[in-house]
Amino acid sequence: MLLLHLSDVDEASWAEKFRAALAPYPVVRRGDGYDPKAVRYIFVWKPKPDAFDGLDNLTAILSLGAGVDALLKHPHLPDAPVVRFVDEDLSQRMSDYVVAHVTMHHRLHTRFQADQAARRWVQLYPPAASQTVVGIMGMGVLGQDAARRLLPLGFTVRSWSRTPKAIDGVEGFAGAESFDAFLAGTDILVNLLPLTPDTAGILNADTFGKLRRGGLDGGPVLVNPARGGHQREADIVRALGDGTLGAASLDVFEVEPLPADSPLWDIPNCYITPHIAAISNEEAGVAYYAAIIKAHEAGKPLINVVDRSRGY
Ligand code: NDP
Ligand code: OXD
Repeated sequence: MLLLHLSDVDEASWAEKFRAALAPYPVVRRGDGYDPKAVRYIFVWKPKPDAFDGLDNLTAILSLGAGVDALLKHPHLPDAPVVRFVDEDLSQRMSDYVVAHVTMHHRLHTRFQADQAARRWVQLYPPAASQTVVGIMGMGVLGQDAARRLLPLGFTVRSWSRTPKAIDGVEGFAGAESFDAFLAGTDILVNLLPLTPDTAGILNADTFGKLRRGGLDGGPVLVNPARGGHQREADIVRALGDGTLGAASLDVFEVEPLPADSPLWDIPNCYITPHIAAISNEEAGVAYYAAIIKAHEAGKPLINVVDRSRGY
């Protein structure tokens, strides 16, 4: 039996699609009458504290999100394997966000927007894409997809990950010891890391101060569609004000929804979106997890299982 336990999304709609994809396999929601001991899979997003109570025979916890940082902090998370969402549709959506914001900053949008507001005609030429270095933090599923889409646009791409990566056309940096060298050559810093104890708060004043200067008019740029816990917002406000950063695109925040009194709302070179970079699409999510459940029920191993000791 599959149990759905979803908050902040349309659980009824997901259930209908799962029932269609898995029939005759039983699919239930919290309000339905069912024996908790019959639940083998639970599909979760923002699970409540009692989400796993009585589910003594779980074989897998299926995460609607690609990021599992909040799920791994659940106070009663059972010992069952956690499977995260890895999907082309999600990667495409995230890369759509990354490409849109990287190209916007590369073409000095903030500068020309200010010039237009001031009715000022100044022919400042943006660098060629090849002269602009995009540094991607996190070279997993989403980082690699973003790199694959930025390279044909002509950008110079470098990456930073925990372990070394050999990706055609991308200069790879790995480990804490190479972080400063990675930053020193980066004009547009794109964060696609998971949130773990090692990466929390990594987008801070010290990091911003190490980015390359002189590449982009106005200063280097931060693009963060990963997690709000990666960023120190007080440092971002200061860096945007004093020119350490030329601009920032933020999809995620320390507190979500971003409080109305956050100073970030009023900063013209801060581009805010409400955690919409890449939502897990219902059709894609159901197809992915229905295939996983069917394969697992047929004796095949689970895929994309989270390594709990690493935190992602
Ligand atoms: P992956 O697990 O596939 O990739 C994570 C990458 O980060 C890996 O390359 C890993 O290195 C690297 N990494 C992890 N820890 C460190 C560290 N301490 N130092 C350096 N590199 C590190 O994740 P995804 O690409 O699938 O997703 C990334 C994140 O994007 C998610 O965790 C989630 O938070 C966020 N997200 C946000 C969405 C939104 O709408 N805003 C939507 C979807 C995801 P290595 O390969 O060497 O292990
Ligand atoms: C995710 C998200 O992790 O939407 O998938 O943030």
